Amino acid sequence: MKFTKCNRLRGEVTIPGDKSISHRSVMFGALAKGTTEIHHFLQGADCLSTIACFQSMGVAIENNGDTVLVHGNGLRGLKKPAGILDCGNSGTTTRLISGILAAQDFTVTLTGDASIQKRPMKRIMEPLAQMGARIRSIRDNGCAPLEIIGGPLHGIHYLSPVASAQVKSAILLAGLYAQGETRVTEPQLSRNHTELMLSAFGAQVRTEGTTAIIQPADELYGQQILVPGDISSAAFFMAAGLMIPGSEILIHNVGTNPTRDGMIRVCQAMGGDLTLLNETTTGEPTADILVRASHLHGTVIEGAIIPTLIDELPMIAAMACLAEGDTVIRDAAELKVKESNRIDIMVRNLTAMGADVEETEDGMIIHGGKPLHGAVIDSKLDHRIAMTFSIAGSTADGETEILGAECVSISYPDFYQDLERLKS
Ligand code: S3P
Repeated sequence: MKFTKCNRLRGEVTIPGDKSISHRSVMFGALAKGTTEIHHFLQGADCLSTIACFQSMGVAIENNGDTVLVHGNGLRGLKKPAGILDCGNSGTTTRLISGILAAQDFTVTLTGDASIQKRPMKRIMEPLAQMGARIRSIRDNGCAPLEIIGGPLHGIHYLSPVASAQVKSAILLAGLYAQGETRVTEPQLSRNHTELMLSAFGAQVRTEGTTAIIQPADELYGQQILVPGDISSAAFFMAAGLMIPGSEILIHNVGTNPTRDGMIRVCQAMGGDLTLLNETTTGEPTADILVRASHLHGTVIEGAIIPTLIDELPMIAAMACLAEGDTVIRDAAELKVKESNRIDIMVRNLTAMGADVEETEDGMIIHGGKPLHGAVIDSKLDHRIAMTFSIAGSTADGETEILGAECVSISYPDFYQDLERLKS
């Protein structure tokens, strides 16, 4: 895929469904009694991996495109799959499913692609082992493939060293089956979709500060779910609209859950002209976002805001290159263990485009204001890197070529078509 500088972006775009919520809708629907009807489901490869895993455990799931019907088997109705569970590129599938599998009365092996087989799984293996689970990294390297021997669990109070919704959710899901109450305390609050959605499905979940608390459940009940647009996907058009002179974009139906809205706050702190319209507040909050090209300046991004924009940091780093002054990103060491090492890959690729960026232990420092020029960008098959550099390439002089560009199918299959439409 090749990109050159574009004049301006104009028009409207509807963002595909939220990835985190789409995964959870299928998982919780599979464990519920009755049918769960999911609208605006994200048809990205990651969420399709979740569907395939539950289908292979005997759950009837009808995927009709925008709408998915999950005919749940009840909390104790999963069947041992015939083969190995393939989680593809999806950390959410791998980690959340592990919490569920730890409590079943069968043994499973799960794995995923080359990226998944390098991502840390000890972060879930340790707390689940404390609950009584038996999980083994088959290569003994703390990564997938994992063998999970299901069995009885008991509640714990886990003090998580990382703010991670995947870790928190794996423990809470195991907690549905455990004897006694389960608590997870995080250093900062990570996205809370599991807590909100499990509660809607009938589980007893509550939150005290950064602690989530769940009681064992007898049954969950199927729900109707309207998945909001994914703010992590909208982020690319927010940044593009702010960066490309003369742009004005209306982004429809974006989830604005406060545990996910750091991108909006950072854009505004950088001087970005973003207006939230048609805000809704029942269930997961949503808004349409009107973006107008702006003169941006640098900012500091650190501490509790980090988990609320963790997946948006690659795009923010590229945006900071065009802002006036310095942008400092710290407390973001988690970026190193995403689909790729996103600190390393961002610094390398931005530098290749002429940016002045320094790598730090837990983030980067971007000295903004230098125009970018085209380069060959290796996406390392990381969907968010491919999308980030297609936007950066649309602001740069010369041509930017993205290798492995097709990996956007993980979270936003129509991304390039939507971007092209806004350019015309
Ligand atoms: C996710 C949580 C985050 C995020 C990922 C999706 C989720 O990961 O980066 O894209 O759906 O729970 P961590 O829990 O590893 O921070």
